Amino acid sequence: MDTVVSGIRSTGNLHLGNYFGALRNFIDMQYKNRCFFFIADYHSLTTHPDPSKLHGNVKNVLTEYLGAGLDPEQSAIYVQSDVPEVTELYLLLNMHAYIGELQRTASFKDKIRKQADNVNAGLLTYPVLMAADILLHKADCVPVGKDQEQHLEMTRKYARRFNTIYGVEYFPESQPYKFSGELVKVPGLDGNGKMGKSEGNGIYLVDSDKDIRKKVMKALTDSGPTEPNMPMCEGVANLFTMLKIVSGQEVHDYFLEKYNDCSIRYGDLKKQLAEDMIKVIAPIRERILQIQSDDEYLRNVIRRGAEKARESASKTVKEVREIMGFKPF
Ligand code: ADP
Ligand code: TRP
Repeated sequence: MDTVVSGIRSTGNLHLGNYFGALRNFIDMQYKNRCFFFIADYHSLTTHPDPSKLHGNVKNVLTEYLGAGLDPEQSAIYVQSDVPEVTELYLLLNMHAYIGELQRTASFKDKIRKQADNVNAGLLTYPVLMAADILLHKADCVPVGKDQEQHLEMTRKYARRFNTIYGVEYFPESQPYKFSGELVKVPGLDGNGKMGKSEGNGIYLVDSDKDIRKKVMKALTDSGPTEPNMPMCEGVANLFTMLKIVSGQEVHDYFLEKYNDCSIRYGDLKKQLAEDMIKVIAPIRERILQIQSDDEYLRNVIRRGAEKARESASKTVKEVREIMGFKPF
């Protein structure tokens, strides 16, 4: 049985990118593995320091995890900041993380551009905190979207470096989990390559049917193919990628044939896509609304999750301290 660890930052509501890139895989894995799924609230501090929103954002992600089908009987579902061991391991790993390699991380370079007035040390060491999350439970496997691949490579680097420096075979090399063999990237429907919160193009798990239809109908296209097998513009290509992810290969191929023989009507494709999205989102949304007000249930889930996570985490931190040479008097 593999140990699986993953988390999503609590910076707002979850969208279809988060669902198909990460959450769906959590659900898929929870019955066959030892799973830890957490809400990365410390990670959210690198961009969202508003105290009045912090708790609400954590609660949103928790209800969305549960609404999408994460089962607290199967997995440890916890809030990152409820597990103090993560900060200790983060500190220890920081001593072997080099500034040059952190500065070269793609996500850091991206943030320097996007939030030039707030390039804090937390942003720089973001991958070390992520490595601490993962190595805390000695994860074999980490289900995340494609954009997290480099962070996972760094986690493996820190694990190897630790093992080499201390001459141990302690941390495993945590591998990305590839749903159906590939890491998924859910595109935006506004011609943007990626659906994301900061891109402002999300279709959210709490969106109403009406909102979903409206967003899909507005998706960027062109005036249609004018000759057989024409290359697609980015907007249309994104619609097809989305169709494959949400509606499946067969529906995708049906519309592709119509595109290739120039008989396609984008309106029909969009209608199909919107209805298939609703099939995925509506039941999740209903469950989210049901559990949102059940504070006692949520409290219990989180308390039990933190207990399970701390049991595993404290064992690791104790062993790491021993390996590094800490000794009680
Ligand atoms: P956001 O882009 O909305 O800020 P995060 O960066 O917090 O999302 O990502 C949370 C998880 O969801 C990560 O595992 C990430 O890989 C995945 N994810 C986010 N957006 C997408 C997307 N468009 N396609 C695939 N996976 C995604
Ligand atoms: N960095 C991830 C993201 O932006 C969130 C995250 C933090 C994570 N720690 C993790 C994902 C550990 C997997 C494992 O989505």
